[in-house]
Amino acid sequence: MPNPAAPTADAGHGVHPFPHRHLTGIFGLQPWEIGFLLDEAEQWIALNRGTAKHDNRLAGLTVINAFFENSTRTLLSFEIAGKRLGADVVNMSVAQSSVKKGETLIDTAMTLNAMRADVIVIRHEASGAVQLIADKVDCPVLNAGDGRHEHPTQGLLDALTIRRRKGRIAGLVVAICGDVLHSRVARSNILALTALAAEVRVVGPPTLIPAAIERMGVKRFTDFDAGLDGADVVMMLRLQRERMSGGFVPSPREYHALYGLTPERLARAAPDALVMHPGPMNRGVEIASSVADDPLRSAITEQVEMGVAVRMACLDVLTRARRGIEGWA
Ligand code: CP
Repeated sequence: MPNPAAPTADAGHGVHPFPHRHLTGIFGLQPWEIGFLLDEAEQWIALNRGTAKHDNRLAGLTVINAFFENSTRTLLSFEIAGKRLGADVVNMSVAQSSVKKGETLIDTAMTLNAMRADVIVIRHEASGAVQLIADKVDCPVLNAGDGRHEHPTQGLLDALTIRRRKGRIAGLVVAICGDVLHSRVARSNILALTALAAEVRVVGPPTLIPAAIERMGVKRFTDFDAGLDGADVVMMLRLQRERMSGGFVPSPREYHALYGLTPERLARAAPDALVMHPGPMNRGVEIASSVADDPLRSAITEQVEMGVAVRMACLDVLTRARRGIEGWA
């Protein structure tokens, strides 16, 4: 699908459509820049579905994945994305690194920089940590999730999944449900989907919805059934108990009774509503297995597939200047 909001020669956007050195968040991206990354990702879906999943455009470049928090989907998909594009990909094992001897984040980043990394992909538990590193190093930095702040490639892969399944994003009603307070996924999705003109609702218990969330251009619902009413997309969020210091929810069982997505609850949404979850899922807590595994409604495995394509697009686009691609230097 073409990107209708793409810049034109006289729009003052410069010569190429992604004038950013890093991807630290969706915040600050123009709608046409988000659309451009989604368009770029489309080409990789077909390659990834074929048998020869290889393109050599990043040959000679070194991608370092530095994950200070656990990950399955994001870490593996960045590794696969880099390898499919021909890069040398190194995953830093934080548990066996000098971080465990007390080395600071900045010193760690400067060490990776001195090894002449061409891209550094970072996940960190502290909001803002990725920007801190991006400001110090010489190469593009990609945010693979920082604290509660942002998870931009998740926002992009979710937008791509919706665009492919629904044919559009503008005008869709998207309900983002559950633990919005602790969710960097929610924040990146709100920024991406509102930029692309979706009507976004946030739905959850009052204790798990940030104050003044309406300033992000969304509608707040604390009644789950009302929030789901007529929604085209139902995006469930993981209950992040590891980030909770107090009693945000009475118990997982009670949370499921009030805010768990079951087939009965899903019936409140549009008849063809798409069900999404970024993973990892707490089955039986925020989502019932019968919904998560429903092949007609659930896009959860497709989200994972789109994650590889989106990360290939981001690695390609952010290294174009470095590779001396005409118009990008
Ligand atoms: N969605 C997501 O970030 O999953 P991982 O924590 O497994 O990377």
